[in-house]
Amino acid sequence: MPNSADPQPDSSAPKGKAWGGVFREPTDKRVELFSESVSFDRRLADDDIDGSIAHAQMLAHCGLMTVQEADAIAHVLEEIRGEIHAGRFEYTVSKEDIHLHIESALTARLGDTGRKLHTARSRNDQVATDLRLYCRRAIDRLDRGLVELQRAFLGMAEREQGLVIPGYTHLRRAQPLLAAHQLLAWCEKLGRDRERLADCRRRTNVLPLGSGALAGSSLPIDREHVKESLGFEAVAANSVDGASDRDFACELAFVVSLCMVHLSQWAEEWILYSTQEFGFIRLPEGFCTGSSIMPQKINPDVLELIRGKSARAIGNVQALLVLLKGLPTAYNRDLQEDKERIFDSIDTLEAVLGVAAPLVEGTSFDRPRITATLERGHLDATSLMEALIAQGVPQRTAHETVGHLVRRAMTRGVSLAELSDEEFSRDYAGWNGSLRGALGASRAVERMASFGSTAPAAVAEQIAVWRRRLGVAVAP
Ligand code: ARG
Repeated sequence: MPNSADPQPDSSAPKGKAWGGVFREPTDKRVELFSESVSFDRRLADDDIDGSIAHAQMLAHCGLMTVQEADAIAHVLEEIRGEIHAGRFEYTVSKEDIHLHIESALTARLGDTGRKLHTARSRNDQVATDLRLYCRRAIDRLDRGLVELQRAFLGMAEREQGLVIPGYTHLRRAQPLLAAHQLLAWCEKLGRDRERLADCRRRTNVLPLGSGALAGSSLPIDREHVKESLGFEAVAANSVDGASDRDFACELAFVVSLCMVHLSQWAEEWILYSTQEFGFIRLPEGFCTGSSIMPQKINPDVLELIRGKSARAIGNVQALLVLLKGLPTAYNRDLQEDKERIFDSIDTLEAVLGVAAPLVEGTSFDRPRITATLERGHLDATSLMEALIAQGVPQRTAHETVGHLVRRAMTRGVSLAELSDEEFSRDYAGWNGSLRGALGASRAVERMASFGSTAPAAVAEQIAVWRRRLGVAVAP
């Protein structure tokens, strides 16, 4: 006989909820709206279904359901996937998140068989698994996008072979560079971004499923089985950590943010290069937009937005770190806030990569304009200094001597090459005509000899290296 003091089931208790059993009162509608995540975590649907199918197959393998039951679950989950893709799936905030949506649709169609799917699983290890699968796919897409952009820079480096441009430090003319060398610098930076992605992928590719809520399961599950079906490289070794670790999301957000910083620097450089004042490059008009009031304007908005979007990628890293810093051990609902930040970082970089490569492909240097002003700014001063050093002059002395010569040329408003032998001899007693071989921007470039320098041979070698790395066919 039930004691009348026992809590009585309340007809208005949250009946439809997967966790409703213990409750006597329905969920406040405002709380449903406040706490739902399905409006954004529906993006995990594919990964959730993949994870659930692998989980059901493992349960069958371990005798926790029959093979027929697992097959029926997989079949209905695929049906649900089809409806989601076709936009025919209904979402409601009362079902909180994508995990509960999919499970309840499954149960509605399969009854008790569907009700077995959540055996030895918690939404805590489920969402961690889904998010890892999502990030792993994103990493692979981002990597492909980065390769496309590297190829675009390499292609431009090849188109612009032989072109010498002024190199800048402190945004002041410094030493001449091959344009190709400057362009390959972006391949290097993006190459490191790709290495970081690959490294982050290793730590992302660890299976949390089977961690349960935090303590694991007393049922005879086989986590290796799930690991194999989902292509994970390892199984999380500690269930407390497994269900709550979001390091991979922080790492990915950071890798994306550093990549966005690189792309922002590139955007800034090309915005400068494309100004009237520099006039170094011409951007494709299809990648510029106009002004609604000034008819003459052709603005570099795409590059400006790339630079601007780096801000949100950087902000997302901060948001994720702050989200995690105060959490006690294991899952806390705060973790639901990780998704929009990591989705946004991925979306941002993907969107940028989608326009960056074609923009590079459509851009060219204005050779006549660059060449016309190339001898301004005494870009060959360091070249002359090194020629003196090669003749035995101590570096500090050579530096000072060339400093005097540059001052002489500046006063007369000429280049170093335009000074007379007599003027050179006044500052350097050992002057001889052969030293003129160090003068002029092109010669300064040609005289470079060190590995990694802008020397034409070194740059040609690097182009060949990048062709091999990026799988670009070598020209016949
Ligand atoms: N929507 C939740 C999230 O994104 C799923 C996990 C919820 N777990 C829980 N015990 N309430 O984190």
